[in-house]
Amino acid sequence: MENKEKIERSFLLLPPRLCVMVSTRGKDGSMNSAPYCEFSKLYGNFMTIGMDKKRDSLKNLRETKECVISLIPIGIADKISISGKPYPYGISEFEKAGLTPIEAEKVKAPMIDEAIVNYECVLHGIFEDVGDSVVVIVKIIRAHFDDKLINEDEMKTRMGSDAAYHVTKGRVFCTIKGKTVDTGIDVKKI
Ligand SMILES: Cc1cc2nc3c(=O)[nH]c(=O)nc-3n(C[C@H](O)[C@H](O)[C@H](O)COP(=O)(O)O)c2cc1C
Repeated sequence: MENKEKIERSFLLLPPRLCVMVSTRGKDGSMNSAPYCEFSKLYGNFMTIGMDKKRDSLKNLRETKECVISLIPIGIADKISISGKPYPYGISEFEKAGLTPIEAEKVKAPMIDEAIVNYECVLHGIFEDVGDSVVVIVKIIRAHFDDKLINEDEMKTRMGSDAAYHVTKGRVFCTIKGKTVDTGIDVKKI
C-alpha cells in the first residue's frame, strides 16, 4: 500500500469529529454561519478550527476577530446542510437555512437560538498555510447553555448529549446516547 493511501486508511481508526457551526459578521455587518468538523478543543478556553482559505467565515474572522461557535442538535441536521452550501459573500445562511440569530452579550457575531451551546469567542491567532487551509485559534469568553442539560455524572452527560453531529469520510453521522446513526447526508453532494 502506498504511503499516502496508508495514511488515509489509518484515519478510519480515528474517532469521528464533532461538527460545530461557526457564526460571524463581516465589517459591513452581514451575518454568516457555516458548519465545521475540523474542530477541536484545546487546553484552557481555546478552540481550533481548520478552515479552507476561501471560506467567508475566515474573511469575517480576519475582519472582525470574533465568532460564535455553536453545538447543534441532530434535529436541525437539514438546516446545517443547507448552511454548508457555497452562497455568495454577504448572503445570510440564517435566512437560507431558517436558523434564528440571537444577539450575543460580548461579541457582535450572532448566536444560534436552536443550538445546544453557544460559545462567544475572540480570535487568538491564525496559523497560516496548512496546505490549502489555515488553523484558526479562538478563545472562549462566554458560554450559553441550559443548565438542565448537565447532570452530576460527567460520563452520563457526555454520552447522553445530542450534540454529536459529526463527519467521517464525507458522510454525516450523529451519535445519540452512545449510538451512532448515519444521517444519509453526503457532504460532497450538498
Ligand atoms: C458537515 C460539514 C462539515 C464541514 N466542515 C468543514 C471544515 O471543517 N472546514 C472547512 O473549511 N469547511 C467545512 N465544511 C464546508 C463549509 O461549511 C462550506 O464550504 C461552507 O459553504 C463555508 O461557508 P462560508 O464560506 O460562508 O464560511 C463543512 C461542511 C459540512 C456540511
